[in-house]
Formats: sequence, C-alpha cells, structure tokens
Amino acid sequence: VSLAPFNTFRIPARARRYLRVTDPAQLQAVAADAQLAALPRLVLGGGSNLLIARDEVDALVLHMGLEGREIVGATAGAILVRAQAGENWHAFVEWTLAQGLGGLENMALIPGTVGASPIQNIGAYGAEVKDSFHSLTVFDFADGSIRTMDAAACRFGYRDSVFKHAEGSTLVVLDVTFALPRAWTPNLRYAELAQAVQDIAAPTARAVADAVIAIRRRKLPDPAEIGNAGSFFKNPVVPREHCARLLATWPDLVHHAQPDGSEKLAAGWLIDRCGWKGKNLGRAGVYPKQALVLVNNGGATGGEIMALARAIQADVEARFGVRLEPEPVLV
Ligand code: EPU
Repeated sequence: VSLAPFNTFRIPARARRYLRVTDPAQLQAVAADAQLAALPRLVLGGGSNLLIARDEVDALVLHMGLEGREIVGATAGAILVRAQAGENWHAFVEWTLAQGLGGLENMALIPGTVGASPIQNIGAYGAEVKDSFHSLTVFDFADGSIRTMDAAACRFGYRDSVFKHAEGSTLVVLDVTFALPRAWTPNLRYAELAQAVQDIAAPTARAVADAVIAIRRRKLPDPAEIGNAGSFFKNPVVPREHCARLLATWPDLVHHAQPDGSEKLAAGWLIDRCGWKGKNLGRAGVYPKQALVLVNNGGATGGEIMALARAIQADVEARFGVRLEPEPVLV
C-alpha cells in the first residue's frame, strides 16, 4: 500500500502491511496473531505530524479510522465530550462549537486526528490539549487490555507525552475525552490572537476560532496544497545565561521566559536569521511565510526533507549554539 495519501508531507513510501482500523476488535485480532503481533507497528492518524524518511515502511501500519463523537457526561464545572481516534481534529473542534461548547477554539484548524492530539500534546495560540484533557482510552499490545488513562498517566509536556517514549510504545489511543468549561472565558494570552479580536467587545468562542483560522491561513501552508507537517522543529529551551549571551549579539531574538527560569527561543526566528526562509534544497524547501515549516515542493523524498532539516540544524547550531530537535515523529 502506498502511504502517499496518508501523510501530509505526501512522501510516497510504501507500507509492508497495512490495516485500516474501524473497530477496536481488529487490534485484539492483531495482538492474538503471533505473526502480525511480532511485526513492528506504526500507528497512523491523519499523518500530519510524521516524516517517513524511507521508501518502504517495514512495519504493520495501523491506520486509525474509528469514528464517533458524543457528549458523555458532566462534572461540576465542565461538560465531557468524547471523540473516537479517527475523527478529524478540526471537524471535532467545529462540532464542539456547534454544541455551544468553548475550550478548544484556540486549536482550530490544526491538521490531524483526535487520536493523534494527545501524542504530541498539540497546541497553538496559548492552548494545549492537556489544558482541556479529561482522559483517554488505550489498547495495550503488551497484554491485549483496554484501559483508561488520566492526564498524569499521559505525562504531557511541550509537544510530548508518554506515547512518544518507549514506555508508551505498546499503546494505541482509541478515543479521547475532553472537559470543556460550563463557564467559558476567552484565552487571549497569545498577543497576536488578542490583537485579532481586540475590536470585538465580548468575543465568543466562535469569534476566537474564526480569528485563529484567519491567522493560520495567513501563515501556514494548507497541507492539501503544499506537503508539510506544520512546525518541523520544536522551539528550543535554553538556560537563561545562554539566552542573555545571544541577546547581547541579537537584541531582537524572540524568547519567552519559562516558569523554571529557562528561556524558550523561537526556532522560526533562528532559522530565519540563518537565511533559510524561502530557500530550497532539492525538492524540499523552507516555507516563505514561516521558517519553522518545511515543505515538499513536489516529489521530494523523505531523505530530501531530512537533508534540508540537517543542513538547518547545522547552521543554527554553528551560529547560535542551539540544537534544534524535530517535532514530527520520524519513521
Ligand atoms: N518568527 C520569525 N521568522 C519566521 C517565523 C517566526 O522571526 O520565519 C518569529 C515570529 O515573528 C514570532 C516568533 O518567531 O515572534 C514565533 O512565531 P509564531 O508565533 O509563528 O509561532 P512559532 O513559535 O513559530 C508555535 C508552534 C505552532 C503554533 C504557533 C502558534 C511549535 C514548534 N510551533 O510556532 O505549532 O501554531 O506557535 O501558537 O511550538 C505545530 O506544532 O506544528 C505548529 C504549527
């Protein structure tokens, strides 16, 4: 099976084995089959945070197609909504808004599926999945069990969770439950978003979503048109002293103090200052409007994207002494 339609970089890699999962019982059947269970696995959602660096994925690809979303309950302060792993993230955000529920609007238009959202702890414009997260259900290939995990068990971090680490490698997310506040107030911590709604007296969740959608359309390439996986690098965190040294040379360095005193730097700014914005290397390129996004200009292999990523890493490290780490899952 060609994975080209199933990854937003449009890398034409082939999968050794492929299974579209529309029922959790299929996972139980795989686990019970000695031959299939022994294969390496790649769990695929929307394929929007993934770079396949090889021509063939020597694994069993589990393409999550579980569907459904519903209001499942309530707590004192929140309404609980659940979506199955294969649901499109943005369609789910739109659905919550149509139910009159706010809380996810800052994350409107993020590509990918609901099942992938906790893996990366996706986030944008001052909100992260972990802020609205209630719990999720996993299938565990280690013992064939299905169980619930709370936020602590997921060990969410910046674009990180237990699912990206060895301890979580046997887990497949089946559904995710969010707790959306009964008493909603807009989250306008992100300056650019606050600015976008400043002329609205009392912005609704719908209005905030629309503002987010407009900003994203302006800055980020639509994967349907240009192959990409959003931010290709994480924003690096450096000790305060390192940031101070950089500021002495580059006073306009974009940085944000972290609660622990370290500083998060804007990787897009670092890449931009190295002159990479809008540059190409073979068929891979740096998006002209956002240096943090690598794009497939048409026909690029995973190897070409990786070569560009390495060249950027080397330049940024040489100039700023900072090692950029890729954000997408590398296969
Ligand atoms: N900047 C530049 N040049 C560039 C790009 C950015 O100078 O080419 C500067 C901007 O001027 C700004 C700063 O860098 O001062 C930060 O840029 P931006 O606000 O666009 O956000 P980001 O740090 O580049 C992060 C997330 C995005 C998310 C936005 C908005 C990461 C790795 N990326 O990008 O998430 O949409 O903030 O919240 O944390 C993703 O994860 O795939 C993603 C797109």
